[in-house]
Amino acid sequence: MWVFLLLSTMRLDKYICETAGLSRSEAKKAIKAGLVLVNGMKAVSPDDNIDETSDEISYKGTSLKYEQFVYFMLNKPAGVVSATIDREKTVIDLFSGENCKGLFPVGRLDKDTVGLLIVTNDGDLGHRLTSPKKKVSKKYLVKIITPLSRSDISRLETGLNIGNGEVSAPAIVEIVDESSIYLTVTEGKFHEVKRMLKAVDNEVTYLKRVSMGPIVLDPLLKEGEYRRLTPSELELL
Ligand code: URA
Repeated sequence: MWVFLLLSTMRLDKYICETAGLSRSEAKKAIKAGLVLVNGMKAVSPDDNIDETSDEISYKGTSLKYEQFVYFMLNKPAGVVSATIDREKTVIDLFSGENCKGLFPVGRLDKDTVGLLIVTNDGDLGHRLTSPKKKVSKKYLVKIITPLSRSDISRLETGLNIGNGEVSAPAIVEIVDESSIYLTVTEGKFHEVKRMLKAVDNEVTYLKRVSMGPIVLDPLLKEGEYRRLTPSELELL
């Protein structure tokens, strides 16, 4: 019983900050100003404990809903780094207006790579999707400077030396046209796709991730836009 109480209660100011997107001090002020109702009664103190699973909390008349985990699909634009904090603009900086606390990108895309990035605060999911043991497939649209030969395709599909003593795992190549291919890889080695193409004397001029495991980039999302994963996408994960 004691464990249950510890798991399902939370300080009111923390709850307000995480659900209404306020800072801790703004949340405290809102509570003291009588803008927060708990089960229809004005809250009195920021350090009251509430039960986030059963108490009805509202702020300025709007009912708040607590979600422990959130899951987004971002169409990453070029020019932002896949990190939570950096001197440069990060993918998390694109999430203005959301409660960004704890959000992180699942895996990394290079600064100039665009496309699908899953962003969440669920560490277990992040680990499952990036663990080398799970071999989650990642499909990229790759623009290259010269058409691939049969031998290039065969080397990419078999696995090849990509430098620094590393060998890429077998990949799947689908030819789109002379200057573009889809490449599906199951690892997450640093600059992997660019290094694979360099190893067959080619060069990547554009790289876009179009899927990760069962999640496919929504074609309606423009670069820089994001949306929540749908319940059916979440079920696939
Ligand atoms: N491989 C790369 O070379 N870059 C990326 O951003 C992702 C995969």
